[in-house]
Amino acid sequence: MASVFITYGSTTGNTAYVAESIQRTLEQSGHQVTIKDVADINVTDLTKTYDLCCLGCSTWGDDEIELQDDFIPVFEEIEHVDLSRKKIACFGCGDSSYEYYCGAVDAIEESCKNAGASIFTDSLKIDGDPKAEQADIDAWAQDLVAKLNA
Ligand SMILES: Cc1cc2nc3c(=O)[nH]c(=O)nc-3n(C[C@H](O)[C@H](O)[C@H](O)COP(=O)(O)O)c2cc1C
Repeated sequence: MASVFITYGSTTGNTAYVAESIQRTLEQSGHQVTIKDVADINVTDLTKTYDLCCLGCSTWGDDEIELQDDFIPVFEEIEHVDLSRKKIACFGCGDSSYEYYCGAVDAIEESCKNAGASIFTDSLKIDGDPKAEQADIDAWAQDLVAKLNA
């Protein structure tokens, strides 16, 4: 059994929905999940002894990438902590009609890499209503399970 930390920043509830879907799949597969709104965490939560941290954030802004508001304070601190030996997987909701589709997901992944983390799997980007993309969310979460069980 692996211990997994999931945190998410979500304004209209879409990324929260994805986070809870991932949680459900991991728990149904016997893994232990701690899930928190990013507004309720400190960046040092990412350095704790979890086997995997899943970071979810939606993207805002028009001309430039803006992270979901609650994620910004944690994002600004990521490169000030040591995430070496930490495994990270990123996800988020966006809209592909914007220039920087799910740009927040890429920005968080990049910062985690710069802080020494290894990327556990390719990020999950959800275009539009996540309920319509349930199959993709479940497939991504099942892939996490397969990798955790390997
Ligand atoms: C004003 C505004 C700006 C947005 N900018 C982007 C963007 O730059 N890139 C993107 O992929 N999605 C963008 N979106 C889409 C949101 O990320 C999308 O609605 C997402 O599902 C919101 O997720 P949340 O409810 O978890 O916050 C924008 C939406 C709005 C209303």
